[in-house]
Amino acid sequence: MTKKIAVLPGDGIGPEIVAEAIKVLEVLNAEVNLGLEFEHGLIGGAAYDVHGSPFPQQTLDLAKQSDAVLLGAVGGYKWESLDISVRPEKGLLGIRSELELFANLRPAILYPQLADASSLKPEIVSGLDIMIVRELTGGIYFGQPRGIRVLENGERQGFNTLIYKESEISRIAHTAFQTAQKRQGRLCSVDKANVLECTELWREVVTEVGKQYPDVALSHMYVDNAAMQLVRAPKQFDVIVTTNMFGDILSDCAAMLTGSIGMLPSASLNTEGKGMYEPIHGSAPDIAGKGIANPLATILSAAMMLRYTFNEGAAADRIEQAVNDALDANVRTADIYSDGMKKVSTAQMGDAVVSALIKGA
Ligand code: IPM
Ligand code: MG
Repeated sequence: MTKKIAVLPGDGIGPEIVAEAIKVLEVLNAEVNLGLEFEHGLIGGAAYDVHGSPFPQQTLDLAKQSDAVLLGAVGGYKWESLDISVRPEKGLLGIRSELELFANLRPAILYPQLADASSLKPEIVSGLDIMIVRELTGGIYFGQPRGIRVLENGERQGFNTLIYKESEISRIAHTAFQTAQKRQGRLCSVDKANVLECTELWREVVTEVGKQYPDVALSHMYVDNAAMQLVRAPKQFDVIVTTNMFGDILSDCAAMLTGSIGMLPSASLNTEGKGMYEPIHGSAPDIAGKGIANPLATILSAAMMLRYTFNEGAAADRIEQAVNDALDANVRTADIYSDGMKKVSTAQMGDAVVSALIKGA
């Protein structure tokens, strides 16, 4: 059976890193007959330049007709002065929302080879393996009303709405509990229930859902404390579940524990398991086109795609092992480079993963 993948490279370093992930997938595809088919589309600034919209109808149609989406990154200086309604980021939020990709899984794993690249002491991060489950289609990112209005005295006022229905909280809670069941069985729900009513409800609903998962140890933490604990003693966490915005912030923080934001993949799933896979980092316009970006987060996102949407766990394991082997071979892109290592380009890093994959076969 063919498996159709919509490939949306996006902007900045997006096309460079996505090309490396496809290179890796093509090797597996040919070798073990995975039946993967790729079709490219436009999103973000690249789509705006051609169609006047960061998320054109063609791209939505392509994503809907595909079994999975592989995305690079969106955004860049060029589009920063556009109206917010057509900025590249709107394309990303649009596809998440249209496909109802409410569950965003962001694993933060420290590869032992990179313990020195972390800004924290090796003993604090060694063995780190956290899964952040971020709610992705609700909360303040999508809440209405929103905007910038002019008050009677002529002063402008910006406003957004943090809003969650019980059903939105319980479905992400179920995903998080089930994720914890497959791991160490510990779930920490992060909120700001001491100040925000919306997350007071969040805490109540998560606690209620937790009664159906007696095998998972549930704890709650305020987001400010969670940010502190992530850099103080990150290994206390197994699975974290949180709102859209808190998840955005905490996942960048968790990323740095692993040495580089260039290492973190993500999966965004809907209720049917259809998914979009993307690195958690942005489009890095400052290094775009230089061939120095780290493609590993995107390659690892491709592995998540094989595991979560296509149930090809063995193939996913092979990609993850090949990444590990490439790091063992001491090749490093600039973001994870340290003395004594071999500094390589984006494409050379992709090649190193491919050759590890072939060797490991
Ligand atoms: C992320 C990014 C996006 C977000 C931006 C680019 C809209 O930071 O995926 O974490 O805020 O969700
Ligand atoms: Mg982010």
